[in-house]
Amino acid sequence: MSSVTSDSGIVQGSPDFRDAGLVFPSGFTFGSATASYQVEGAAAEDGRRPSIWDTFSHTPGRVWNGDTGDVACDHYHRWESDLDLMQSLGLHAYRFSIAWPRIVPTGRIEDGVNQAGIDFYSRLVDGLLARGIRPVATLYHWDLPQTLEDAGGWPVRATADHFADYAGVMGAALGDRIHTWTTLNEPWCSAYLGYGQGGHAPGRHEPAAALAAVHHLNLGHGKALQALRATSTGSPEYSVTLNFHVLRGEGENSGEAMRRIDALANRAFTSPMLRGVYDEDLLADTAEVTDWAFVQDGDLETINQPIDVLGVNYYSTATVRLWDGSSPMQHNDGHKAADGGTAWPGSDRIVEFVQQPGPYTEMGWNIAPEGLLELLRSLSAQFPDQPLMITENGAAFADEVAADGSVPDPLRVDYLRRHLTAAHRAVEEGVDLRGYFVWSLLDNFEWGYGYAKRFGIVRVDFDTLERTPKASAHWFRQLAETGVLPA
Ligand code: FCB
Repeated sequence: MSSVTSDSGIVQGSPDFRDAGLVFPSGFTFGSATASYQVEGAAAEDGRRPSIWDTFSHTPGRVWNGDTGDVACDHYHRWESDLDLMQSLGLHAYRFSIAWPRIVPTGRIEDGVNQAGIDFYSRLVDGLLARGIRPVATLYHWDLPQTLEDAGGWPVRATADHFADYAGVMGAALGDRIHTWTTLNEPWCSAYLGYGQGGHAPGRHEPAAALAAVHHLNLGHGKALQALRATSTGSPEYSVTLNFHVLRGEGENSGEAMRRIDALANRAFTSPMLRGVYDEDLLADTAEVTDWAFVQDGDLETINQPIDVLGVNYYSTATVRLWDGSSPMQHNDGHKAADGGTAWPGSDRIVEFVQQPGPYTEMGWNIAPEGLLELLRSLSAQFPDQPLMITENGAAFADEVAADGSVPDPLRVDYLRRHLTAAHRAVEEGVDLRGYFVWSLLDNFEWGYGYAKRFGIVRVDFDTLERTPKASAHWFRQLAETGVLPA
C-alpha cells in the first residue's frame, strides 16, 4: 500500500480500503475490549494480591515514566457508569478480562478463593446483561499471581494446573451467564515477551524458559477449557485469542525467514490447539534451545479441545529477512526493545525484522489493513470449519482535546474504517467472521508504555479520570446501531 499523510493529517492510502456504506450481515457483533490490569486500578483492594504486572510496573526502569496500574482508569469503582457509557455507545458485547489475583490471590485455590473478587465480576456481568450487552470474559490477560511467578511462573508445569483450578472457580461462579469464555489473551506475548525478550512482566531473558512457557500456556488453555466445560451451567461459547504475525519477506531466501517466524509466532499455538501437534520444523528450529522434554504423553490431546470461535488480534504486519551478519541486526518487530533478550528463541541472529513501510500509528506500528484481510483468508483456508472473531484491532494516536472539549480523532476513524473494510471484504469472500471488537473502550495502561499511548475510543483524563467519547466512539456507535459502515 502506498500512502502519504495529507496536510489535514488524514492518512491517504489505497482508496479501496476506505469504503463507506458497506452493510455487515445481521448478527455481526460490534463490541469493545479492555483488560483487567489496564483499566481496573484498585490494585490492593478487597483481597487482591499482586500480579507480575504490579511487581514489574513498580520496578524502576521497566515501564515508561514509572507508570503503574495502581489506579489505571479506576474502572473497579466506576464500572457502573462505564457500563452506562457502553450502552450509550450501542455496543453489542464487551470483552473484559478477569484478574486472577482478585479471584485466587496466591494463585493456588488451596490457599483460598476470594469471594469479594468473584462478586465484583458477578455484578459486572449482571450489569452488562441488564443493559443488553453480551459478556465476553478472558481468564488470562497477563496478570499472573506473583506467588506463582515466585514458584517459577509459566515455564513451570504446575502453573497450568493452577490455571485450570481458577478456570473451574470462574466456570462455577459465572458460567451460567457468560456469553463467551476466552482462556488466554495472546500467549505469544506472555511467553516470548515475558520470558524471552523481557519487555513484559516478569521481564526474564531465558529462551528455553520462553519455550517451556509456550507449552504450559497451551496446556493451561486445554485444561482450562475442560474445567470451564465441566462447571459452566449455561451455554457459553469457548474461545482463545491469539495475536498473529502477518509476514512479508525481504531479500534472498526470505521464505525461510518467514517460515521460521510463522512456526514460532503462529503455529506454536494454532498447531497444538487446533490440530493437536507441534510442527516438526518448530521443534527442529528450536532444538539447540530446548529438547521439548516438558511435553508429556497426553498433553497434546489435552490442548486440542474444540473451540467455538478463534479470537484474532491484529494491528500491523512484520517484514523479515535472513540476517547476513554483516551489519547490526534489526529488531523492528513492533515491540519495545528490552536489553539482552530475544522474543525469537532459535531464530535470533538468524532472522531480523526490518523497518516496515509507513504510515504508522503512535506506537510506530505500520497501518496495513490488507494484512488483516490476508490473515482472515489464511486462517479460513487453514481452519475452514473454525468461526473467527476479531477480538482486538485499533490504534494509538496522540489525541488532542478541542477548545469545546470534544476529541476529534480522524486518524483513528480512518484506521478503523480501513480495517473494517478489510473485515467486510473477508465476509463477502465467505470467511466465517462473526464480529469485531475495537481495542480499546478506554485509554488505559498500555503495558511498557504506561499511559503514554492512547488506544481508546473514549478519552480518559488521567488526572480527573473523566471519560469523553472521541469522534471515533460516535462513529463506532453509528456502525453498531446500523450495521452499515459510516462515512
Ligand atoms: C495487545 C494487547 C492489549 C493491548 C493492545 C494494544 O497486544 O492484548 O492488551 O495492549 O495490544
